[in-house]
Amino acid sequence: MFSFLKPNLTTQKAQGKVIALMNQKGGVGKTTMAFNLAHAFAHQGKKVLCLDMDPQGNFTSLFNVEIPEKHMHHLLINSVKELKALHTSVLISDLIMKTEQEEGVHIDLLPAGQELSGFELTVAGINAPRQLILKKFIEKYELRSQYDVIVIDGPPTLGLLVVNILCAADGVLYPFVPDRFSEQGLKNILQVVSDIAEMEITSTPKNLGYIPNLFDVRRKQAGSDLAHIKETLGEAFVYEAFTNKVQFGKSLAQRKSVFQYKSNEYKDLQRQFTVMTETVQKELLS
Ligand SMILES: Nc1ncnc2c1ncn2[C@@H]1O[C@H](COP(=O)(O)OP(=O)(O)O)[C@@H](O)[C@H]1O
Ligand SMILES: [Mg+2]
Repeated sequence: MFSFLKPNLTTQKAQGKVIALMNQKGGVGKTTMAFNLAHAFAHQGKKVLCLDMDPQGNFTSLFNVEIPEKHMHHLLINSVKELKALHTSVLISDLIMKTEQEEGVHIDLLPAGQELSGFELTVAGINAPRQLILKKFIEKYELRSQYDVIVIDGPPTLGLLVVNILCAADGVLYPFVPDRFSEQGLKNILQVVSDIAEMEITSTPKNLGYIPNLFDVRRKQAGSDLAHIKETLGEAFVYEAFTNKVQFGKSLAQRKSVFQYKSNEYKDLQRQFTVMTETVQKELLS
């Protein structure tokens, strides 16, 4: 009924959003958050692609698959015209892993492996803009029209891989551990975002908010440390903190998302990730 009121909706191409989880520091929960956020979207019926951009391949491993011989690194290199002739060609259709996480919940994955750590060197001499390789890769394969959400797990570095992710993403979530050392790590990555803005080569991703993780409720200073950091973060949204939870750790060890458990102890975690999907969508639309 009244379908004539919205003539475009069915004919419009899907405009998927690219969301990256970033922090220069390791062990803050980037991979954990990326994995569970992807599942939260998939549970809502969204078509989700997970894109591993960390040479350590932890994101890939969480999907309980072996890291294949050819992966993100080879796809990215192959997408650069100048380098194509130097490498054996790979097809994205051969590399996308279609996973069924539980009955009816499907997530596609583009895996990564350690060769990706050589990305910066491999593209060092090219004439095309090296910062935009991932962005152009996503455009070339029209990934936004095939997926509702593309979740990128970033590496704990600040080099060219990170610049590529920041140039390709529509929005970034910043997980961090609220301790005395977290401020500098966040400042460093935000500096890269503002460097990209200054280069004026592409638009910069929206700050979708900060995710305090591994919040230690038993530590006396934890509350005041978090309050202090919040003050320094400015306008962006700060999510409800994720505490250091045994059952969260257990789910990751079993390579499962928090949505794959029915027991009550996972309800809070499920709610937190569902709220995250809602906030992310609202932020990306505004
Ligand atoms: N809230 C949490 N509660 C318990 N364990 C967690 C939590 N967040 C992360 N972890 C564990 O901490 C480690 C680091 O998390 P990870 O997501 O790999 O960080 P990063 O990707 O930033 O390096 C992993 O072993 C993960 O299972
Ligand atoms: Mg990681």
